[in-house]
Amino acid sequence: MASSSTAPFMYLALTLLSSFLTLTAANFYQDFDITWGDGRGKMLNNGDLLSLSLDKASGSGFQSKNEFLFGKIDMQLKLVPGNSAGTATAYYLSSKGSAWDEIDFEFLGNLSGDPYILHTNVFSQGKGNREQQFYLWFDPTTDFHTYSILWNPQRIIFSVDGTPIREFKNSESIGVAFPKNQPMRLYSSLWNADDWATRGGLVKTDWSQAPFSASYRNFKADDCIWSSGASSCTSSSSTTTNSWFSQELDTTNQDRLKWVQKNYMIYNYCTDAKRFPQGLPPECNTS
Ligand SMILES: *[C@@H]1O[C@H](CO)[C@@H](O)[C@H](O)[C@H]1NC(C)=O
Repeated sequence: MASSSTAPFMYLALTLLSSFLTLTAANFYQDFDITWGDGRGKMLNNGDLLSLSLDKASGSGFQSKNEFLFGKIDMQLKLVPGNSAGTATAYYLSSKGSAWDEIDFEFLGNLSGDPYILHTNVFSQGKGNREQQFYLWFDPTTDFHTYSILWNPQRIIFSVDGTPIREFKNSESIGVAFPKNQPMRLYSSLWNADDWATRGGLVKTDWSQAPFSASYRNFKADDCIWSSGASSCTSSSSTTTNSWFSQELDTTNQDRLKWVQKNYMIYNYCTDAKRFPQGLPPECNTS
């Protein structure tokens, strides 16, 4: 008798407990898998923090469990401090196959006191060659900073601490492929790129400083999750006006973008006429 009358309460308690667990598990354990590095990638603090490390034998990396078709993705990163020359921390979205799409952030380390380069690129249908590079207006190794990708059907916006640094617009109307049909996963890795990363490969990794490590926290995504051939978007975002799904840069943010591009951009494929003797890529003439 007693057990049958307590059963509903037990059920309620278990339901509450499991929803509590789901909430607290909304973290790296829930959203990511460490995919390589043989123990060099770790989820810490109950999954609130993730760290990658690199030594002479190997780097490490992780990837999202979900695939997305459009999304607004935020992550906080703290990069390899001190002498990080030769190291590269990649943080990007990518689809699969030979005609893949990709949206890249990549952080190229440097000697102590010399600036990191934030390298960005966009691939559509397997074609990239759209690099833009920046210095940052802060030291990215002393604190966590937020790096965001907004990807909707009209544009891709890269932001740093909420400040847009790059916009790649959908230019399909002038024949430029835009990533919009292939779901992408989020990937990150810390690896040795001393053949090209620092001053074009001149400065090599100093292995006496190893292991190198970078940390991640506060992953947030408003996204359309792709599952068995269909996508479902978080909240009613895809229909709400002004949501990330139709978001564009207002005039304030256009000004901030210009400020970054004027003061911190160190390379722009769109102004590299030597590299494109047949003429700059068509999307370069639209902004
Ligand atoms: C490293 O520092 C040098 C010297 O200031 C600079 O030219 C270079 O752009 C910096 N960043 C990288 C990743 O090489």
